[in-house]
Amino acid sequence: MTKKPLIEVKSLQKQFPVYGPFGKLGGVKQTVHAVKDVSLTLYEGETYGLVGESGSGKSTTGRTILGLTPATAGEVLYEGKDLVKLSKSEMRKFRKELQLVFQDPFSSLNPRKRIGQTLEEPLIIHGLGDKEERIEKVFRILDIVGLQKEHYYRYPHEFSGGQRQRLSIARALIMNPKVMICDEPVSALDVSIQSQILNILKALQREMQLTMLFITHDISVVRYISHRIGIMYLGTIVEEACTDDLFAETLHPYTKALFSAVPTGKKQERIVLKGEIPSPLNPPSGCVFHTRCPFATERCRQEVPALREIRPQHKVACHYAEEEKQWSN
Ligand SMILES: Nc1ncnc2c1ncn2[C@@H]1O[C@H](COP(=O)(O)OP(=O)(O)OP(=O)(O)O)[C@@H](O)[C@H]1O
Ligand SMILES: [Mg+2]
Repeated sequence: MTKKPLIEVKSLQKQFPVYGPFGKLGGVKQTVHAVKDVSLTLYEGETYGLVGESGSGKSTTGRTILGLTPATAGEVLYEGKDLVKLSKSEMRKFRKELQLVFQDPFSSLNPRKRIGQTLEEPLIIHGLGDKEERIEKVFRILDIVGLQKEHYYRYPHEFSGGQRQRLSIARALIMNPKVMICDEPVSALDVSIQSQILNILKALQREMQLTMLFITHDISVVRYISHRIGIMYLGTIVEEACTDDLFAETLHPYTKALFSAVPTGKKQERIVLKGEIPSPLNPPSGCVFHTRCPFATERCRQEVPALREIRPQHKVACHYAEEEKQWSN
C-alpha cells in the first residue's frame, strides 16, 4: 500500500520575542528559538509520535502546524495549500478538519457551559444539522469516548481528570476532523486511565482513518500509539523512523541516551547525559546536541547536520551516524 502524504511540514520555524521587565516599551530583548527547523510528513491514516524533553518545542510545533500560532518561516502543505500563508478567514475553512486535543483539557473547556452546549457549539457555528440532529451527534460522540448521555448536562468541574480528557477528545471529534494533533493527552493521568484513553485514540484512528500527530515525552506511550516516531531536541528533529525500526536500532546519540533511561526489553547500559538542555534563547551553533554529546568534534560545533535517510525510512541528523564510534546499541 502506498502511503498518501496528508500534511507536509517543510523547514518550519517559530521564534518568540521575549521582552525585559519593561515589556515592549523596553524593546525586544531576545528571541526564543522554540522551533528551529522541523520537517515532517503526516501520512493519511497514520499516527506520528513526536517525543522530546520538556521545552524541546513539541507543543509549539503542533500549534504552528495548525496555525494557532503563526509560523516565522517554512511551509505546512495541506490539500495543495500552504497553511502558513493563509489568512485567518481562509484558514477557517480548514479549521474543522484540523483539530487539537490539548495538554490541559480544563483550560479548553468553558467552565460556565454545560458540556453538551460546549460540544454542540461548533456544529451551530458551522450550521450543521438541526437541534435534534446536533444532540444526537453529541450523544454519539460521548458514547465513542466512553461517556454517558447524562454527562451532556454537567459542567466541566463535575468531571474527573480522565473524563475531562475524554471530553477534549470528544470536542475535537465532533467536527469529523481529518487530522488530530494530540498534545500530551494522557500525561496527567494515572496509568490505567492512560491506557483507556490510548485505546480509544487507537480505535478511533483505525476506524475513522484519522491522521494523528501525537505529542508526548513518554517513550512507552509513543511506542504503543505511533506508526512512526520523530525525536525532538531543542527545536529540531534529530531522528525519525518507523516505530519498530527505531526500537530495533537507534542511530542518534541523543535517542540512545533517551531510550537508555526506559526499559525496552533489550540489554542496555544506562547513558547519562552531561549538563542541562541548553536554553532556546541561545541555542548552540552547529549540531544543537554538541554541548552534551560525548562524541562531538569541531565539525559538530560548526556545521548543522542535515536530517538524512541512512536506512530505508530511517533518518538521522548526526554527522557520524554511519560510523562505529558511537555507543553500541
Ligand atoms: N508564547 C511563548 N512566548 C515565549 N516563549 C515561548 C512561548 N511558547 C513557548 N515558548 C518557549 O518555547 C520553547 C518550547 O516550548 P514548547 O511548549 O513548545 O515545549 P514542549 O516541548 O511542548 O515542552 P513540554 O514537554 O514542557 O510541554 C520553551 O523554551 C518555551 O519556554
Ligand atoms: Mg508541550
